[in-house]
Amino acid sequence: MTPDVEARKRAAAEAAVALVKEGNIVGLGTGSTAKYAILKLGDMAQDGFEVRGVPTSIATANLAKEHGIPLTSLEEFPEIDLTIDGADEVDPHLDMIKGMGGALFREKLVAAASKTVAIAVDASKLVKTLGSRVPVPVEVHPFGWKVSKARLQALGGAPQLRLAGGVTYRTDNDNYVLDTRFKAIRDPAALEREMNNVPGVVDNGLFVGVATVVLVADAKGVKARKR
Ligand code: A5P
Repeated sequence: MTPDVEARKRAAAEAAVALVKEGNIVGLGTGSTAKYAILKLGDMAQDGFEVRGVPTSIATANLAKEHGIPLTSLEEFPEIDLTIDGADEVDPHLDMIKGMGGALFREKLVAAASKTVAIAVDASKLVKTLGSRVPVPVEVHPFGWKVSKARLQALGGAPQLRLAGGVTYRTDNDNYVLDTRFKAIRDPAALEREMNNVPGVVDNGLFVGVATVVLVADAKGVKARKR
């Protein structure tokens, strides 16, 4: 990553943190952009700002603990004030692909529990059509994953089992990920539903109608796009 991209990720994440109010329960996203929000919130928490975080991954929980953000859970707070997360692609309707970091299942649940979902991205994540750059990560249960794979192919996808260091990648939920390329995703809402109807699919990385606001950072600064 160039220093410019890192600075933009940080600027977008910090603009999202500016939306947090004292006493909020905050969903903590996963990835290299969400990390900057966690660092900022950690500084604020250590200065006495009252906030509690609901992490979307084990990595985020560890980072948040390290930086002094008190953690809670969906069990304790099934309603979250604000979630801050990143995205892999964002289209003009603010629909997204997420999950290249493997945390899509918990991210979607935490977002679903949130009154406001603020997404922080650098402008390189903006696309006209979802699926232009990245595949859709699909989390599948290991039992019978080849059956799920065949059904995703029947939907027009080209699924590939995700590997990490030469072995099958496992999510925090101990599942597999099928990174599934589609030629053009014309109807993300329909495809999101169809993929979640495939037996063995736990959830997929199409996030349709989820973002409340997307904070986009480019060379000129950060702009908010609202649904
Ligand atoms: C994690 O599973 C993802 O959904 C991330 O939010 C997404 O991949 C964006 O990550 P970066 O901010 O690292 O690009």
